Amino acid sequence: MTKESLIKIEKLFKTYKGDDEPALKNISFTIPGNEIFGLLGPNGAGKTTTLNILCGYYKKDSGTVQINGYSLDKNLKEIKKIIGVVPQDIALYETLTARENLRFIGNMCGMRGKKLNNRINECLELLSLDKSSYRLVKTYSGGMKRRLNLIAGLLHEPKILFLDEPTVGIDVQSRTVILEYLKELNKKGTTIIYTSHYLEEAEQLCSSIAIIDYGTILIEGNLQSLIKSKSEYSDLETIFLQLTGRKLRDN
Ligand SMILES: Nc1ncnc2c1ncn2[C@@H]1O[C@H](COP(=O)(O)OP(=O)(O)OP(=O)(O)O)[C@@H](O)[C@H]1O
Ligand SMILES: [Mg+2]
Repeated sequence: MTKESLIKIEKLFKTYKGDDEPALKNISFTIPGNEIFGLLGPNGAGKTTTLNILCGYYKKDSGTVQINGYSLDKNLKEIKKIIGVVPQDIALYETLTARENLRFIGNMCGMRGKKLNNRINECLELLSLDKSSYRLVKTYSGGMKRRLNLIAGLLHEPKILFLDEPTVGIDVQSRTVILEYLKELNKKGTTIIYTSHYLEEAEQLCSSIAIIDYGTILIEGNLQSLIKSKSEYSDLETIFLQLTGRKLRDN
C-alpha cells in the first residue's frame, strides 16, 4: 500500500435493518497517508456510518476496505492495533475521574504501569486538562469532555486516527486547542480522517476531502486542486453548496 492510498474503499454498500433506503450506496474513495482527510456532508449523509464500518464497529453489506495493506474482512485485529477512534457521541464514564477513564481505556489497549501513566500525563497536559484530571467527568464542561474524548481515542498512539465531529458544540478556546493538537499530531506522521460540518475549519485543516450526500460520494481529491479545477469553485463552502444544494435534510 503506497502513501497515495493508506486507506482504499471500494464499492461499499450498507442498509440498516428496517430501513428502506441504503445509508451507503456504492461508496469508493481513497485516503492518502500522512494527511488530514475530511469526510464532509450534510446531516444523514453517511459520514458516521462510513467511519463506523472502517473501524469495524458496523458490518458492511458488501464492498472491500484496505487499511495500511490489511483487509478489513480478514485482518480486523491488526487494523484495531493501528487505529484510534474518537466517536461523535462522547464515550466516557461520567462517574469516573478523567484519569480513571484514561487508565481504564489504556488497560483495554494493553497499556500498563509507568508507561501508561506518563502517556496519560503527557496527553492531559497537551490538551490542558492536567489541573482538572482528578475531577469526575460529570462535572466537566462540554469543551473539556470533547478534549478528554479525543485523548481517549489516541492514548495508544495510533498510526491512523478517525475523528467524528471532534469540535462540535464547543467554544473557540477548546476548538483551537484541539485543532492545534491535531495539526501537531499530523506533522509527526499520524494520518487523520475527520468529519465536520464546519467547512471553514475543514478548509484550514484538510489537505484532501471527499463530499458525501445521500450515501454517495460526490467528489474527492486534493482540496487545493479541487478548488482550482473550476472557476466557480472559490472555496470549500462553494463546492459543498454547489454539489449538495440548499435543501434541508432533517425536515
Ligand atoms: N443505527 C441506525 N439505524 C437505522 N438507520 C440509521 C442508523 N444510523 C444511521 N442511520 C441512517 O443512515 C443514514 C446515514 O446516517 P449517518 O449517521 O451515517 O449520517 P451522518 O452523515 O453521520 O449525519 P450527521 O451529520 O447528522 O451526524 C441516515 O439516513 C440515518 O438516518
Ligand atoms: Mg454523524
